[in-house]
Amino acid sequence: MQDQYERKIEYVRISLTDRCNLRCRYCMPEAGVAKLRHEDILTFAEILRVVKGLAALGVKKVRLTGGEPLVRRGIVELIRQVRQVPGIEQVVLTTNGVLLAEMGEELAAAGLTGLNISLDTLDAARFAEITRRPLFAKVQAGMETVLSLGLTNIKFNCVPIYEVNDGEIPALAALARDYPVKVRFIELMPIGCAYEVGYEGVPMDEVRARLTEAYGSLHPVGRKMDRLQGPAEYYRIPGFRGQVGFIDAMEHKFCATCNRVRLTAEGFLKLCLNQKNGLDLRGLLRNGISDENLRLALRQAIYRKPAEHLFTDRENTARDSRAMYQVGG
Ligand code: 5AD
Ligand code: SF4
Repeated sequence: MQDQYERKIEYVRISLTDRCNLRCRYCMPEAGVAKLRHEDILTFAEILRVVKGLAALGVKKVRLTGGEPLVRRGIVELIRQVRQVPGIEQVVLTTNGVLLAEMGEELAAAGLTGLNISLDTLDAARFAEITRRPLFAKVQAGMETVLSLGLTNIKFNCVPIYEVNDGEIPALAALARDYPVKVRFIELMPIGCAYEVGYEGVPMDEVRARLTEAYGSLHPVGRKMDRLQGPAEYYRIPGFRGQVGFIDAMEHKFCATCNRVRLTAEGFLKLCLNQKNGLDLRGLLRNGISDENLRLALRQAIYRKPAEHLFTDRENTARDSRAMYQVGG
């Protein structure tokens, strides 16, 4: 379906949990966060009803996120069931990779069509510093597992931050030289604890410049092929098997072509990354709404999707205070 600005909405990102096995400094406070109670988060049956309703309105792609989605028990079975919903063509996952060595094989067998792995560094000590957990070896084993499984559509997501990991920009990009994967650089957004901890994100123009310096010219890849793809702009580098991508978050560059809505673990349908407006689906589901009325409610909510995010409008009261672990990126 289309929203009020004639954007076609074909993609939903579903946060399965706000829990995480890491504590990335820009995302979660040291002490962790007040956890949602089990009864506060949507059951898999409820999630499936929402997915079916959205699929009936034309949604074709589902991304499972968190927190860390792999810490939610039963996720493999959920993937299998979402794959079977008529109209759903892609089921993908965003993970920090810690559990991929253990779970990669069953995830692939369940029919996962793609995988995004958050990876800000290739250095074990720096990983422990950023994530406050000494688990880089697990992530590395997970990467090896999924790369050997022959899963296509693997992306690595890196948030470059001055004086933290900016020196690793060329090394991270080199994953796309050595493997048929996409390495995407994402501008740090004013969400979660990003600014409180004093992190300063590297702007994408500078990331592009550093890669040009290291590898020569970048060649833009046309955007035509995949309508379901996200806001990244992709480039080829001579000699690379994969591609590099850039997400310029702070400008409104990607809002005009936004194709997605989001579902929080508590069952709130969010229409824009950092705006509060949306729809409490959990309330509707638990009050016995019919499939038909659910579709109607989804249609009405999605139609009102806002024009653009409010990252640069810090005083605006429509801004959402939810952090990334509550929204799933
Ligand atoms: N800005 C940009 N990216 C963020 N992530 C978490 N917090 C932020 C932020 N403030 C990223 C993680 C992960 C994805 C789910 O979101 O690095 O790749
Ligand atoms: Fe966990 Fe991702 Fe947040 Fe890191 S950024 S603490 S991996 S949810």
